Amino acid sequence: MKTLSVLFIIFSAVQGAAIPSPGPDGKYTLTAEGIRAQVIPLRCRQLNRVDRLWQFIPFGAAITNLFVEGADGVERDIVIGFDDVSEYPAHGLGHYGAVPGRYTNRIGNAQYTMDGVTYYLDKIDGNNTLHSGRNGWGYRTFNVAALSENSITFSIHDASNSSMGMPGDVDGYITYTLSQKTWSVKMEATAPQHKTPLMLTQHTYWNLDAFGNPDTDLIWNHSYYMPFSQRLLEPDPSMLPTGRIISIPAGEINDFWSGPRLLGAGSNDPLWKGNCGSESGCEGYNNCWIVDKPTSQATAPVATLSSAWSGIKVDIYTDQAGMQVYTCYWTGSDLPIKKTQGGPGAATDGFMKPSGCVALEPHDWVDGINHPEWGRKQIYGPGETYTWEATYKFSTL
Ligand SMILES: *[C@@H]1O[C@H](CO)[C@@H](O)[C@H](O)[C@H]1NC(C)=O
Ligand SMILES: *[C@@H]1O[C@H](CO)[C@@H](O)[C@H](O)[C@H]1NC(C)=O
Ligand SMILES: *[C@@H]1O[C@H](CO)[C@@H](O)[C@H](O)[C@H]1NC(C)=O
Repeated sequence: MKTLSVLFIIFSAVQGAAIPSPGPDGKYTLTAEGIRAQVIPLRCRQLNRVDRLWQFIPFGAAITNLFVEGADGVERDIVIGFDDVSEYPAHGLGHYGAVPGRYTNRIGNAQYTMDGVTYYLDKIDGNNTLHSGRNGWGYRTFNVAALSENSITFSIHDASNSSMGMPGDVDGYITYTLSQKTWSVKMEATAPQHKTPLMLTQHTYWNLDAFGNPDTDLIWNHSYYMPFSQRLLEPDPSMLPTGRIISIPAGEINDFWSGPRLLGAGSNDPLWKGNCGSESGCEGYNNCWIVDKPTSQATAPVATLSSAWSGIKVDIYTDQAGMQVYTCYWTGSDLPIKKTQGGPGAATDGFMKPSGCVALEPHDWVDGINHPEWGRKQIYGPGETYTWEATYKFSTL
């Protein structure tokens, strides 16, 4: 793995000048058989009216469009993103399609202690930190270290304390590769100077109907299955793990292990409201399941999402031990869908609704740096390499 980083560095040095700019819309396009993706290394503020030049401000390594064919042979753009990259700044907290880092998800009370020193973080989610705060990786410029027809590698040099309270430089590499109806993501990061928390994810939001369904533009009719996830990190009212790990009984609203079920199947259950934050009355899911995949099942997907309407199914394979599932309760009604979404007779009015999408975020156990009793490996230092992998395989029902 270390060899890989060195190779990437050499790549970026040698090829840096040769890597083409993104298209006029600010996006790079990757293609392989049966799949096409667009990604951005930057987000773009606006066209400067005086010199007619785009002014870029950062938005990290995000996937903006992902096209696959449905069961009817129609190509659909099944991820949340924006046509106009200038939309991204207003919706930065959502991390639409991006890679939050260097420590994703929540950190309790915006602090942690490492080797006897307490570090204080950027508080942006009540008393907690979310996605490393207002200067996390979702707000940064990434470089393009390598580019081919079907693959792109983004790199980031994250200086010490540039996300407040995260010591030591981190060098990160994120590679998106397309192959036949498959999107693979590999990340690695090193912290050569100092121990630091490291936990990454790919924060894509899905709507497998691409908002084309005439009967609904909400996510509830998508089917979801996590066969190896009978355990959940118990959340407190602000969705921070309490430290307790709870077993999910079959048939309870958080049961997606006993068989595939619709994401909205539990919506009439009294537990539905507040299930993703009792403090806020959040309805649906914003919870972290533990993935207990037996080695005998090494080649099985850990999660499967599908929609009967488009007939699109995605199987997710990952080396991560947790899965955050968020059904977009907090998505406002001011996010335009893309012109590659919707379509004749679609239920959408051109804007996403709350509960119109689902984010599936493979990563380690949330706030593990404050729960040494869990024994998670979430602190990395000199001589170590953090790695993350997920593969998304598409097929039709
Ligand atoms: C935040 O912390 C303060 C002080 O400990 C506490 O009084 C307050 O209830 C906490 N707020 C939330 C939303 O948990
Ligand atoms: C880290 O950054 C914050 C501002 O974001 C600053 O207040 C603090 O002093 C810095 N800490 C170190 C150790 O440089
Ligand atoms: C939901 O999916 C079922 C099949 O699972 C289908 O019969 C029904 O029409 C769908 N409803 C909507 C609103 O799409």
